[in-house]
Amino acid sequence: MITMRPLDFLEKNRVLITGGTGSLGKKLTRIILDHTATTVVVIYSRDEYKQFEMELSFTPAQRQRLRFFLGDVRDGDRLRRALDGVRFIIHASALKQVPAAEYNPFEFVKTNILGAQNVIDAAIDSDVTHVVALSTDKAANPINLYGATKLCSDKLFVSGNSYSGRRPTRFSVVRYGNVVGSRGSVIPFFLARRREGVLPITDPRMTRFWITLEQGAALVLNALQDMKGGELWVPKIPSMRITDLARVIGPECQTPVVGIRPGEKLHEVMIPVDDGRQTIEFNTHFIIRPAFPWWGENWHMEKGGRPCPDGFYYGSDNNTDWLDDARLARMIADLDLPEAQAWAKERGI
Ligand SMILES: NC(=O)c1ccc[n+]([C@@H]2O[C@H](COP(=O)([O-])OP(=O)(O)OC[C@H]3O[C@@H](n4cnc5c(N)ncnc54)[C@H](OP(=O)(O)O)[C@@H]3O)[C@@H](O)[C@H]2O)c1
Repeated sequence: MITMRPLDFLEKNRVLITGGTGSLGKKLTRIILDHTATTVVVIYSRDEYKQFEMELSFTPAQRQRLRFFLGDVRDGDRLRRALDGVRFIIHASALKQVPAAEYNPFEFVKTNILGAQNVIDAAIDSDVTHVVALSTDKAANPINLYGATKLCSDKLFVSGNSYSGRRPTRFSVVRYGNVVGSRGSVIPFFLARRREGVLPITDPRMTRFWITLEQGAALVLNALQDMKGGELWVPKIPSMRITDLARVIGPECQTPVVGIRPGEKLHEVMIPVDDGRQTIEFNTHFIIRPAFPWWGENWHMEKGGRPCPDGFYYGSDNNTDWLDDARLARMIADLDLPEAQAWAKERGI
């Protein structure tokens, strides 16, 4: 179980969050402002209205420690300006809708790949020390363009450590899968459709990991604190079967099988088998080591890690931690969604 640790390491420092107005960016900003006294958070994104709304959601005292930069990650000069005095970057901006990527592929290349390289170059030029970039399960053995652009981004950040030379900048990557309860994801969809008595199932064999936004944010902050540079962090989280989820949410509902959608996988993959050889296991997470000779064999041993067995692979189908009906019901009831609260109340949870 990933938990938040004290954020003392961020005191008296500036943290820039690209995509700071997105769901992860807003959650991270709130955590950082709530758990530090002096840290300044710089938001870097394109839409002024999202920034305006975000600013209003903080207290006047917290707003003193917030800066809003309008900017595009495609614009390296603007990034350099925003990075003045910044020591930590969390790179969370991305285009991420799978169908939109298929229809507008080069827009995804520009934001997710060229934007990543701009962040890397600007971070090195500005003597930023720690950069954590967000990845996704879709980047592991990608089958759609969104995943392919995020895989390129991951590789750029890992290799960024070679670019930084004698500069202090280090880059690491955090990877996780769909955040439960996020817009367009299966839980809000089932909670809305249960009243019609039908919960469409794409494939009865389908499995998914369960990660909350809070856990994702905690992993990012832990990585920012502990990173060596070049490694890719993957949380240990439970899995669920889609058929179990449907039964728990709407036991009285019909569950017609409608078929898997284009660009969708049967199981979420976080660590493909070919990365398993490079993977180190810790109590709460895995780390995929880079193949750099300088990275060293002993770092993970000193931190309490152990190499994974030959043939290791981490997907939502071969997990050792599965959510049974009782845990699923408890975790749905804990979601910060009005429909989930209504569902839990009806069931007396
Ligand atoms: N949500 C998930 O389930 C999930 C799962 C795994 C990984 N991830 C990864 O986690 C990261 C954060 O995801 P999220 O859910 O927080 O995304 P989100 O809610 O869609 O937010 C995306 C953010 O990026 C900004 N942005 C988009 N294009 C930009 C550009 N060209 N330049 C600057 N900013 C730009 C957006 O603001 P503007 O539009 O105003 O610029 C927004 O602030 C992404 O890298 C994503 O791939 C997400």
